[in-house]
Amino acid sequence: MRVGIGILGGGVVGGSLAHKLLTESDVITAKTGLDLELVKVAVRDLEKQRPFPSSYATDRPEDVVDDPDVGLVVELMGGMEPARSLVLRALDAGKPVVTANKQLVAAEGPTLFQRAEANGVSLLFEAAVGGGIPIIRPLSESLAGERITSVMGIVNGTTNFILTKMSEDGLPYADVLAEAQRLGYAEADPTADVSGADAAAKAAILAGLAFGVWVDLDRVYMEGIEHISSTDIAFAARLGYVVKLLGVAESTPDGVSVRVHPALVPDNHPLAAVRGAQNAVFVSGPALGELLFSGPGAGGDPTATAVLGDVVTAARELLAHAPVAPRVRIGAGVVADFGQVDTCHYLRLEVDDAPGVLAAIAGAFGEAGVSIRSVWQEGRGEDATLLLITHAAPEAAHAKAQQRLAEIDTVRQVASVIRVVGDTA
Ligand code: NAP
Ligand code: HSE
Repeated sequence: MRVGIGILGGGVVGGSLAHKLLTESDVITAKTGLDLELVKVAVRDLEKQRPFPSSYATDRPEDVVDDPDVGLVVELMGGMEPARSLVLRALDAGKPVVTANKQLVAAEGPTLFQRAEANGVSLLFEAAVGGGIPIIRPLSESLAGERITSVMGIVNGTTNFILTKMSEDGLPYADVLAEAQRLGYAEADPTADVSGADAAAKAAILAGLAFGVWVDLDRVYMEGIEHISSTDIAFAARLGYVVKLLGVAESTPDGVSVRVHPALVPDNHPLAAVRGAQNAVFVSGPALGELLFSGPGAGGDPTATAVLGDVVTAARELLAHAPVAPRVRIGAGVVADFGQVDTCHYLRLEVDDAPGVLAAIAGAFGEAGVSIRSVWQEGRGEDATLLLITHAAPEAAHAKAQQRLAEIDTVRQVASVIRVVGDTA
């Protein structure tokens, strides 16, 4: 049972997939009965060294899609265009598509799902979230009977790698980012990783699968790790926390909330132990309680393994010669206003160590309706630093408190504000 495979993109993931198809076909056939044969790989630069023979490479991606010998198309070029047009062209030609492109799926999911359904072919995207971790299929199939309440976790390998190296080895941000790029974890433009955009797309996809509401990316609250300093990482450690970039999708009384931001996580929390480019996703629901999915979240080989799993599924569905039922159903839903979402905050304030400072600060929080949980002071005189952790309050109340703090003369600077997640105290 042969299926010809065309790959759009022969970079970190596409290169690894092509190599696997050429070198592990015996294992794949033994396990699945399928003969998955690599036909063509689209690249930009035909001169670059690749982990597959150059005879497979073409710089005309439409030739991959249109080749009659290609029965199944794998999109691993990334970005919006020409990836979007090529995926639609393949679907319209009745060819199943597998993609790892989270930006494309998050931004264009409903259009792509509708087009796949209209043509009766599969559109699979397991590797778009969590790299090698199976999370898309569990959410869309295994957990279809659970009323999921939240999906939360570490969904970007590059930023977790950077934060781990900064905290454990004291390495500077820029050096660690360069290493993440060298190891193939980062996006072509790593701004997408460090700004939180990559995690935001993944969190939106998770929300779509968990709650059936496709949240526009501009409704996803997003904060990256660019402002996280080694000072805050060190203070967090002294208070018993580690800093992680989290993606959160939850069902609230006001609608679905999707957000990405750095967070202080208690060092005995399971997410605190997720190091390097690993990812981990908690899924919570009333019947199952909490499920944790974890594993390699980025990198060529783990991601190509997840892609290959989708290729096997799509090839089986293609060979069944029957229309494929849609896996994702999108309904209407309300997106919660982030200002109404309850969160806890850690604040680092540079203050004058003078009588009445603490009272003024407590007053600012009190007026805004935010309750303080703990306060620590470091240093004295003009070098005093106050660290505060609040109880949960709506984001809008936190914003009001921070505005009031900035108006207090003896508060020289609100040096940083990071949310706190997973604290049960
Ligand atoms: P990459 O290393 O930058 O590879 C992209 C490939 O696409 C390159 O081979 C590039 O050609 C080719 N390409 C780009 N635009 C093209 C065009 N217009 N025509 C022909 N070829 C074109 O990216 P990657 O890391 O493999 O990521 C691929 C996709 O997988 C992205 O959507 C990414 O978000 C996703 N993903 C990546 C990882 C990871 O860990 N890397 C994990 C999960 C998901 P050249 O090589 O000639 O430049
Ligand atoms: N750049 C992404 C990350 C790749 O670092 O997680 C995996 O999607």
